[in-house]
Amino acid sequence: MMAVKYELIKKSNECNARLGRLHTPHGIVETPIFMPVGTKATVKTMTPEELKEIGAQIILSNTYHLYLRPGHDLVEEAGGLHKFMNWDKPILTDSGGFQVFSLGDLRKITEEGVEFRSHLDGSKHFISPEKSIEIQNSLGADIIMAFDECPPYPSDRDYVKKSLERTTRWAKRCKDAHKNPETQALFGIVQGGMYKDLREQSAKEIIDLDFPGYAIGGLSVGEPKEIMYEVLDYTAPLLPEDKPRYLMGVGSPNYLFEGVIRGIDMFDCVLPTRIARNGTVLTSHGRLVVRNAEYARDFSPLDPECDCYACKNYTRAYIRHLFKANEILAARLATIHNLYFLLKLMENIRKAIKEDRLLEYREEFYKKYGYIK
Ligand code: GUN
Ligand code: ZN
Repeated sequence: MMAVKYELIKKSNECNARLGRLHTPHGIVETPIFMPVGTKATVKTMTPEELKEIGAQIILSNTYHLYLRPGHDLVEEAGGLHKFMNWDKPILTDSGGFQVFSLGDLRKITEEGVEFRSHLDGSKHFISPEKSIEIQNSLGADIIMAFDECPPYPSDRDYVKKSLERTTRWAKRCKDAHKNPETQALFGIVQGGMYKDLREQSAKEIIDLDFPGYAIGGLSVGEPKEIMYEVLDYTAPLLPEDKPRYLMGVGSPNYLFEGVIRGIDMFDCVLPTRIARNGTVLTSHGRLVVRNAEYARDFSPLDPECDCYACKNYTRAYIRHLFKANEILAARLATIHNLYFLLKLMENIRKAIKEDRLLEYREEFYKKYGYIK
């Protein structure tokens, strides 16, 4: 038996969007889906009960952070990540690849793996494909990711080619090291930068290894949005129709629409939770910096069209006051709202696919929200 099975429910009649269900050991996820990010085994400011209440179906956590603190052995001793953090729905862990590559001078890449210094105490560590899988096996997420290299943007063709070929060799090593294929699905990651032939090469090599799901990595790394859309235009159709497709690190409303329309099923991004803590909220009329002075006497909700807990009970003036006074409730209310906003958007997108009016819904949404990011 395989840990995760993708059920394709419907293909859109107007674009490449798909409606589906992901069957996992911790329940069913309706796709397309947005996964809130819980880097350190917590979606910042939110209890699992609150996450469920706003409709979260699956969350993402990080191998790199949990390996450094509190340690994957400790999480395993606690009974695994689900039990440790009291979240009984599906979890996906990223492999640590992306996080260690973001460390800059603190890391060294070789064929064997990546040597790096901890951002916490400067201590030396080494993560190889085998080590990443060992850590992810201990954490016990429903979906785990291959250890890949995400080249920065821009990178020259020569470097990206060498990098994707190493990512393929690492993917094979990850597959060989994976101990629990019946309870944890290992997804492969397609790289190849912004080069069409390299995306094709990477997709072919990764698909040949036969994973239960495929991610597109190396996007939303600073490239113009038109380039990302173009890469998705030619990369998404290369992936098997009967497996889930995950676009890593993407989660602004425009990107979600554009990804879904091109055939993506899963997304994750720190954007909604991160900007919430800085006092920025997503609304049906675009981003709003509730911290700004103009909202001091605005007694309307964050988004008058939203029916989340924050919007039903609090005003912009009150939430602005909480931010100015450095009160913890500010971050909580803004996070509840932003996650609700994106999860509701995905629910609306699924409904629109079902009714073959996704393109119309996108137009209607962009008209008010704007077409920025
Ligand atoms: N998160 C965002 N982009 C990437 C990527 O390319 N690889 C991995 N592992 N995680 C990501
Ligand atoms: Zn709201």
